[in-house]
Amino acid sequence: VGHIDDVQELRKTKPKTIPQRFVRHMTERPTLVTSVSQHNSDMPVIDFSKLSKGNKEEVLTELFNLATACEEWGFFQVINHEVDLNLLESIEKISKDFFMLPLEEKQKYQMVPGTVQGYGQAFVFSEDQKLDWCNMFALGIEPNYMRSPNLWPKRPEKFSETVEVYSREVRKLCKNLLKYIGLGLELEGDAFEKIFGGAVQAMRMNYYPPCSRPDLVLGLSPHSDGSALTVLQQAKGSPVGLQILKDSKWVPVQPIPNALVINIGDTIEVLTNGKYKSVEHRAVANKEKDRLSIVTFYAPSYEVELGPMQEFIDENHPCKYRRYNHGEYSKHYVTNKLQGKKTLDFAR
Ligand code: SIN
Ligand code: FE2
Repeated sequence: VGHIDDVQELRKTKPKTIPQRFVRHMTERPTLVTSVSQHNSDMPVIDFSKLSKGNKEEVLTELFNLATACEEWGFFQVINHEVDLNLLESIEKISKDFFMLPLEEKQKYQMVPGTVQGYGQAFVFSEDQKLDWCNMFALGIEPNYMRSPNLWPKRPEKFSETVEVYSREVRKLCKNLLKYIGLGLELEGDAFEKIFGGAVQAMRMNYYPPCSRPDLVLGLSPHSDGSALTVLQQAKGSPVGLQILKDSKWVPVQPIPNALVINIGDTIEVLTNGKYKSVEHRAVANKEKDRLSIVTFYAPSYEVELGPMQEFIDENHPCKYRRYNHGEYSKHYVTNKLQGKKTLDFAR
């Protein structure tokens, strides 16, 4: 990806037309009227404090709400999530500050093609592939071997420390949510954690500059996540940008201040034999405002062999996925372009 494919730089030149590389085919454009839901999202809201601190009845009610959210939406927003609100603010600030650095500075951390670490655009493999109206910065976090220390920015100040502390807090949330998701499925609380054998955690910051023709481009191509669970933070003041595919329509997700958006990834879809689905989503650009999102991916260790759990297979629910190695799955995921739920074909 050269200078001109960097959307922030492109935006600065105030081009009269959007370069073809970003212009989507008619059928992919976000303005395709028939495809966008007219309703604002009723995405479920889960009160985490009811799960962690509630009385017996509150816990049971919220576990039920969580299970329903996972089964019917694959997405929910979580409030009272116990991640320090100051931390949400500081991760937003350092992310924004990073994207505002001069291109030359950011390019010191240029993404290596075929990986999803560093600055640039991931998932680009051919010259004729359309580009997203987005700049990304991504890092492997845990375990330690996931880290490429030379890709951790020296500027802005406190970048690494902030990512470190934030990741630790979000990891705690992921572990707890997985426990509650397990309990809601009538599994043991540690069922997923045991299968995962430790976990892989990665992070991605997405920066979407304003676009003079948001009707022609996509902020982020439709995809499902290759993770088990994803935690998405939408920066304060960001316009609506995330849309999820529900009943064949794109439903915009209204951000709730201080809430985090959680979604089920491919791993949980496979483990539950499709009971919980990894839902396709995308981001659209905005004409006036920029948008920043900070995403954490939580997934099993790469050595782990995955397949549908026995609990979800019976006469009425034949096994839908094969067993595979999660490391191979991840490799497959990051070496293909984002294309809806196509990456899950690997598991069939
Ligand atoms: C993502 O799917 O990784 C991020 C979408 C968003 O920016 O809301
Ligand atoms: Fe995603």
